Amino acid sequence: MAHDTQAAPIGHEKVERNVGLMAVLIVIVVAFGGLAEIVPLFFIKDTTEPVAGLKPLTALQLEGRDIYIREGCYLCHSQMVRPFRAETERYGHYSVAGEFVYDHPFQWGSKRTGPDLARVGGRYSDDWHRVHLNNPRDVVPESNMPGFPWLFENKLDGELTGKKMATLRTLGVPYTDADIQGAKAAVQGKPEIEALVAYLQNLGTVISNKR
Ligand code: HEC
Repeated sequence: MAHDTQAAPIGHEKVERNVGLMAVLIVIVVAFGGLAEIVPLFFIKDTTEPVAGLKPLTALQLEGRDIYIREGCYLCHSQMVRPFRAETERYGHYSVAGEFVYDHPFQWGSKRTGPDLARVGGRYSDDWHRVHLNNPRDVVPESNMPGFPWLFENKLDGELTGKKMATLRTLGVPYTDADIQGAKAAVQGKPEIEALVAYLQNLGTVISNKR
């Protein structure tokens, strides 16, 4: 009989007939693949070295960044230009890891209801941003971005700005004692819109904006 000449059942049959065992082995394979991709990143200098000229955000820009997060701008906007022709033609130089070393947490995102903002700094005037953020349809008639008119009324008190900077310093952002001590005075009483625009105007500017 043909059966007699076949080899005894081998290991993979056990795996294929045992869903639990298969699941465990799949997890091990996937975890190994993940580690092989992720672990080297911790040792490549490029991923932790700031690009030349990168400065920590000023107190005002830092508050602007927190407003960006609070208002959920990241739900519609990414901050990561990918290295593809279609992206670099539209947005400018692709993003590099060294631009984000002071970003905790980074705002790369993946949802693009609106355009990528990684290189929006300097593309429009401060006035344009103010009009746009108050009511986007005043400058882009077909826009479906919401307006944020309360940013013109809310004022920063700066109570926590220095503490935020001190915390970021523990994560490696090179704030000086003077930066931290001057933080409150630098932002106190300013409307939130000013902080947000300062943040936007700084985005991506450390690498050439030329397209
Ligand atoms: C519901 C999705 C949505 C949210 C939330 C949103 N946006 Fe937008 N945004 C858009 C869309 C769509 C556009 C493109 C039309 C336009 O310019 O208004 C846009 C455009 C922009 C632009 C112009 C970009 C360019 O290159 O022309 C800026 C700057 C911007 N948004 C900033 C912000 C900020 C800051 C916030 C948070 C306070 C925010 N957006 C929240 C959808 C959104």
